[in-house]
Amino acid sequence: MWLGIDIGTGGSRALLVDERGGVRAGFTAPHEEMYMQRPLWAEQRPENWWDAAVIAIRGVLARGRVEGSQVRGIGLSGQMHGLVILDDAGSVIRPSLIWCDQRSQRQVDFVNAKVGRENVLRYTANPVLTGFTLPKLLWVRDHEPQNFERVRRMLLPKDYVRFRLTGEFASEVSDASGTAVFDVVNRRWSFEMMDALSLDRSILPSCHESSEITGRISPQVAALTGLAAGTPVVGGGGDQAASAVGNGIVERGIVSCTLGTSGVVFAHMEKVAYDPAGRVHTFCHAVRDRWHVMGVTQGAGLSLQWFRNQLAPGVEYDALTAEAAQSPAGAQGLFWLPYLMGERTPHLDATARGGWIGLTNSHKRADLIRAIIEGVSYSQRDCLDIIESLGVAVHSVRASGGGAQSPFWRQLLADIFAKRVVTLETQEGSAYGAALLALAGTGEYASVPEVCRAAVRETESVAPRPEESAFYQKAHHVYQALYPALKPVYSQIAAL
Ligand code: XUL
Repeated sequence: MWLGIDIGTGGSRALLVDERGGVRAGFTAPHEEMYMQRPLWAEQRPENWWDAAVIAIRGVLARGRVEGSQVRGIGLSGQMHGLVILDDAGSVIRPSLIWCDQRSQRQVDFVNAKVGRENVLRYTANPVLTGFTLPKLLWVRDHEPQNFERVRRMLLPKDYVRFRLTGEFASEVSDASGTAVFDVVNRRWSFEMMDALSLDRSILPSCHESSEITGRISPQVAALTGLAAGTPVVGGGGDQAASAVGNGIVERGIVSCTLGTSGVVFAHMEKVAYDPAGRVHTFCHAVRDRWHVMGVTQGAGLSLQWFRNQLAPGVEYDALTAEAAQSPAGAQGLFWLPYLMGERTPHLDATARGGWIGLTNSHKRADLIRAIIEGVSYSQRDCLDIIESLGVAVHSVRASGGGAQSPFWRQLLADIFAKRVVTLETQEGSAYGAALLALAGTGEYASVPEVCRAAVRETESVAPRPEESAFYQKAHHVYQALYPALKPVYSQIAAL
């Protein structure tokens, strides 16, 4: 058996798979709600991730009736970009500023002024964004000097869990790529960035390829979780790279769309290529000597979750999508802008705000929901278009994540993308990819693509419907006109 552990935003999931990638059991332990002290701030407690990971590990071993000694390797994945800072005793100094936290625009401006935009691109292959780890660290330096002084280690969310599991300070290339202090082309930390910003290099963990062994389960953790001491833990991946491994996006031509809290369109690349405008991220893949490009909608599943929490408490997601299906394509002229946490692709604008445009007295709740699902899908189409413009061929799109569980949403994606949308036999996303990385890393397979060939199988395929698709191509242009029209207002709202 091999174990994948994903430290997500909503919860931590542990998944047991066998040597052919068959799923034996899964167990999810929820996290505390993210703490949002101010609009666009988002924090979580790393200790809560650890507690949830322990519950998930114990839960999955019990549910799968598996002894710890049967687990031959462990892979980790997790929400990317979060800042975890530890003091010299290895204790967490303050809650983590997580991936969707947008407070650090001033720090981004500082980095651009100090290092120079061109150099940032040269050193890291990406522009620095408010969501990335570096500006969050600089925010702590600017606003909480008493905390900053105590920083001895900087870790990403899953790498904090690795530290608790193994005692090692280690990361891997795919997650490190999203820190803004990583040299994506050469797959190593960018000391150039650290030095230019007078940051101490020694706070960085060691960095490995995703399928390399980074440490082993400690005896204390063995007693706590039921795992066996000495079990190897491989690098794993940032949730998107890991999910891509789980979806078999390790070869040319196949692209994935993962609709979780965020929405991500992801493509594999054999050579590094980047969008000069930085609208999509170019990161290391969890496959040796391979890279990937991805576009991110900040508020994908989050949009629907917000709607449910605020306007339809207690209603199941299935009931919400069934209601949306009662509204016609285009939701009677209603559009949703999914900018609840600013936006990354294509606008790179932390000040962007969400909302419906086009409301009339005759709109029903069904239209509100349908507009949300369509708005998120238009935003994902924007990601796909930019990726195709980089020369990546896209034959079909493999859909996964909570949103893709809905046949209604999958059909809508096919219509809006004007591409075939395919689902996979195993829909376990990042935790599954993490387990597959453990299979490759412990020598069960020669490489990550080889595991994927053995384990990942397509099932259902949805084709775009010509009439709906033609309609959506027109409606997409209207959607695209909304952001530029509203942009001047966003900065006024932010200034209020
Ligand atoms: C990727 C990203 C999200 C988070 C949370 O760049 O920010 O996918 O990792 O899922």
